[in-house]
Amino acid sequence: MIRGKFITLEGGEGVGKTTNLTFIKDYLAHHNIPVVVTREPGGTALAEKIRLLLLDPHSETISEQAELLLVFAARSQHIKHVIEPALSQGKWVLCDRFTDATYAYQGGGRNMRISTIEHLENLVQGSLRPDLTLLLDAPVEVGMRRAKKRGAFDRFEAETISFFEHVRRAYLLQAELNPQRIKLIRANQPLTDVQREIIDAMRFLVRNQC
Ligand code: TMP
Repeated sequence: MIRGKFITLEGGEGVGKTTNLTFIKDYLAHHNIPVVVTREPGGTALAEKIRLLLLDPHSETISEQAELLLVFAARSQHIKHVIEPALSQGKWVLCDRFTDATYAYQGGGRNMRISTIEHLENLVQGSLRPDLTLLLDAPVEVGMRRAKKRGAFDRFEAETISFFEHVRRAYLLQAELNPQRIKLIRANQPLTDVQREIIDAMRFLVRNQC
């Protein structure tokens, strides 16, 4: 059985992840590629409970370290129960956010040490890394304007503009450090152009599969 491919979708708030996730799912289905769509934090019953704890704007103050460990606890469950089984059955996994979000939010936004994140990444994931990451990038004000329209803010969305500037910078640094894996998609343009860039970035993986 040929192992499936692991694709992740990343970006700050309001960059259009949800719309493009559906677009990618349909694109893969069109090429007869079996795909499991999932998300982080979340993807299993326990990991979804952890997600609720992380996003609850009314929770007690969560320390940066507790936040980081909760993110990786959820990820550990997700990998064991969803991601690895699907990949080894030859299915592709399309995941809304993964560890690049940890480098961006906990590393960039919360200023946690990168070496600590790397350590947890190796511990929890072993050698598992995405085959392709699509990073939707847009200026912070544009994303925040879109996110505001969605209604009440969760614990992350309620953060400051400066937090999201750090998140964006950390995402762009990740892209610079991993140019083979992370494809930068300019999200601040008409949707058809965004989706053309997405297809260009995915073509190589998909062609090799068909
Ligand atoms: P979203 O997937 O609906 O955008 O919300 C998930 C939130 O969780 C988002 O604000 C980013 C945050 N997050 C982290 O802080 N670290 C992580 O590792 C992941 C996967 C998400």
